[in-house]
Amino acid sequence: MRQEEEELMILITGATGYVGSHLAQRLAETGERPRCLVRDLDKSARVLPVEKLEIVQGDTTRIDSLEPAVKGIDTIVHCAFITADRKQLGPDFYDATNVQGTANLVQVAQAAGVKRVIEIGGLGTKPDRPGSYMQGRYAAELLLSQSTLEWTIIRPSVLFGKDAPFIKGLVELIRSAPVVPLIGGGGMKFQPIYVEDVVSVIIEVLREPERTTNKIYTIGGPAYYTFAQILAELLKATHKRRPRVYAPKALVGLAAALMEAVLPNPPLTKAAMTLFTFDNVTDLDSVERDFGFRPMSFSAYLTANGV
Ligand SMILES: NC(=O)c1ccc[n+]([C@@H]2O[C@H](COP(=O)([O-])OP(=O)(O)OC[C@H]3O[C@@H](n4cnc5c(N)ncnc54)[C@H](OP(=O)(O)O)[C@@H]3O)[C@@H](O)[C@H]2O)c1
Repeated sequence: MRQEEEELMILITGATGYVGSHLAQRLAETGERPRCLVRDLDKSARVLPVEKLEIVQGDTTRIDSLEPAVKGIDTIVHCAFITADRKQLGPDFYDATNVQGTANLVQVAQAAGVKRVIEIGGLGTKPDRPGSYMQGRYAAELLLSQSTLEWTIIRPSVLFGKDAPFIKGLVELIRSAPVVPLIGGGGMKFQPIYVEDVVSVIIEVLREPERTTNKIYTIGGPAYYTFAQILAELLKATHKRRPRVYAPKALVGLAAALMEAVLPNPPLTKAAMTLFTFDNVTDLDSVERDFGFRPMSFSAYLTANGV
């Protein structure tokens, strides 16, 4: 970090998650020692270079556990969310963390004199049916943008990289199922972005508060892919052949509900079906225009690294 930011104290929530762990790792590599809020100390020891980080145990649904976590912090990178690929365990499952957890974090951050919160959301966040997953994500953004804190919201398209959740789920499907479903015909568009490029964007936002404060950034990779094209890329990368079958959204929605009812870790959830209700894309030059570098291509990544 630049000279004037040497003393910046950063808290990462959701540090054991996909985005948070990559961010913590990168900051540690560059000599930073961010504080990491984790729920599970054993998990943090497995997925994080804990000796190079400050680890604090807590849970955003328990406000008392957040007070020590925010003490002395300048900027929070908020990645602690229950994402749509998680099975809904009870009516309040998503909102308890996504809405109430964010409200708790904002409240303690304001009280502790934290200056700024950077929230990692997702493309397409918009108001939705009360109680729905998407409405909760929208409410989480509003809680921050209507607070007295300085804020930045980053909304990426789906992520790729080693063990990226969305891609990993599709690869598991390809490996285990005799056919692959073209949900809604497979025409829905995505703009996969490399996890390390998302980390680079977050670091730029951390470095440039004047330019990036009180803004929403929608970001994606350098190309659009339909769902069918993503499956085709993954079939090629895994050297598999699978018949691709048309799967109407209503039918897949029913299958997701059924799988969620009977499986502990269903490959598809009702909330994840939200991803198939809009094109998950933004401007093709979003990252280059706003952050000055060209993000990694999904196809080039697969060719170089496999799935
Ligand atoms: N991955 C993607 O493809 C993608 C794409 C676009 C946007 N995003 C967004 O990026 C953000 C981070 O996603 P991710 O992929 O990193 O998710 P993730 O891998 O599921 O990680 C979520 C993190 O939040 C933590 N967490 C959940 N509930 C918590 C609570 N009540 N208190 C404290 N921590 C809690 C989890 O802790 P445990 O480890 O203990 O479960 C985990 O560390 C989300 O807003 C997501 O929507 C992700």
